[in-house]
Amino acid sequence: MSDNKVILNYDGKAFEYPIIESTIGDRGIDISKLRDQTGLITLDLGYKNTGATISDITYLDGDNGELYYRGYPIEQIAEKSNFTEVIYLLLNGSLPTSDQFAGFEKGIKKYNFVADEMKRLIDVFPRSAHPMGVLSSLTSALTAFNPKAVDVTSKEDMDHAAEMLIAKFSHLCAWTYRKKMGLSINHGDDSLNYVENFYKMCFRRPNQEFHLDPVVVGALDKLLILHADHEQNCSTSTVRMVGSAHTGLFASVSAGISALWGPLHGGANQAVIEMLEMIEKDGGNVAKYVEKAKNKDDNFRLMGFGHRVYKNFDPRATIIKKAADDILNSLGIEDKALDIARQLERVALEDEYFVSRKLYPNVDFYSGIIYRALGIPTEMFTVMFALGRLPGWISQWKEMRLHNDPIGRPRQVYQGAQKRDYVEMNQR
Ligand code: SDX
Repeated sequence: MSDNKVILNYDGKAFEYPIIESTIGDRGIDISKLRDQTGLITLDLGYKNTGATISDITYLDGDNGELYYRGYPIEQIAEKSNFTEVIYLLLNGSLPTSDQFAGFEKGIKKYNFVADEMKRLIDVFPRSAHPMGVLSSLTSALTAFNPKAVDVTSKEDMDHAAEMLIAKFSHLCAWTYRKKMGLSINHGDDSLNYVENFYKMCFRRPNQEFHLDPVVVGALDKLLILHADHEQNCSTSTVRMVGSAHTGLFASVSAGISALWGPLHGGANQAVIEMLEMIEKDGGNVAKYVEKAKNKDDNFRLMGFGHRVYKNFDPRATIIKKAADDILNSLGIEDKALDIARQLERVALEDEYFVSRKLYPNVDFYSGIIYRALGIPTEMFTVMFALGRLPGWISQWKEMRLHNDPIGRPRQVYQGAQKRDYVEMNQR
């Protein structure tokens, strides 16, 4: 039986701190009294060893490469569920009955419309604008058109705001795609399910009959499921931090979108394809780029490789890699980038540098191959990640508010100047 407390010996005294139990995975030392009792704080750059909250939504086992949404393994969810059901599961904690599912779908469709003034907003952006910047701005602007869904405090109001954001966000994502492609934007089709409607809002051409390709819809649905939530990652922690100030849901998610944009986080799916295209242009010399990634004097990194938690295969990468094969075969597409990705993976996983640092392909390594096969432009890949991650952001924000987590305000170890007096300009 493991101890239920830890003892810190400091300044000739022994201080006891209780251990917070988990159902699975990391147990945590409760240091909430540490500074009052010892005058010390902890320092943990990047929070690699620090729990920010207690959660029951998603669990990752980084050593064994396992991921559970509300306890259900991602492999079973990806194979048997659909994105709308996953949204319900993450938000409510259990799989819906058929009546609950129908009611949830209906609740989302109630908001399947975005104010026309928002269309004028998107018109002012240059076509060259990065879609993530457009999406973050539009999401924050939603607040102006839905003031009642801002600072919600009751569970019912949170669920209402969640349904509203889930419905409207898919429109905003589709609109950023249409903007990038120079196409007119539209309001979608309520006769379709969530993913079909998103797909049609993106790909409908005004002058052609629209055909819903089940292979494409199936691939999109699976990719959105695989991105739906992932514990306290950088963008989710941002949503929680901003929301802890009781900022509204839409503005909190807008901040999360900006965090996800970074190439070390969600922006990696775009960076992977750009890396693969660069290697292809450079004659496909994979070994050269693996060496560059190992060279400390070279700031090149193997994008799509490595993870803060997974020190084994990212289970999502395993599923996406197989899906990439299936979808490219089904659509009859040959993609050189996929061949290069496979070679890169093989060379890296045999190299001591990557093996010793437990660097494996992550969710972003293969996802761009599929998005590209579906005709989605590279700059839109992280918008696709954001659409997938939306239910995770909302569920984690809702949990943070319902648990009454305090406003986030970390401490620091100060190494700046000692106290000193001001010096007049003519004395310096
Ligand atoms: C996502 O947190 C989540 O859950 C995120 C995510 C989600 O679903 O929300 O899973 C989504 O963000 C996936 C990660 C996408 N990012 C990339 O693919 C970018 C490339 N990866 C790296 O930048 C890096 O691996 C991180 C950012 C993902 C993780 O960084 P850590 O945990 O801070 O690790 P580190 O930078 O301290 O690296 C440890 C060592 C270092 O070498 P040493 O100093 O020990 O010699 O590994 C090396 C690093 O230089 N290293 C890499 C590398 N990743 C780490 N070297 C070359 N190429 C890489 N990709």
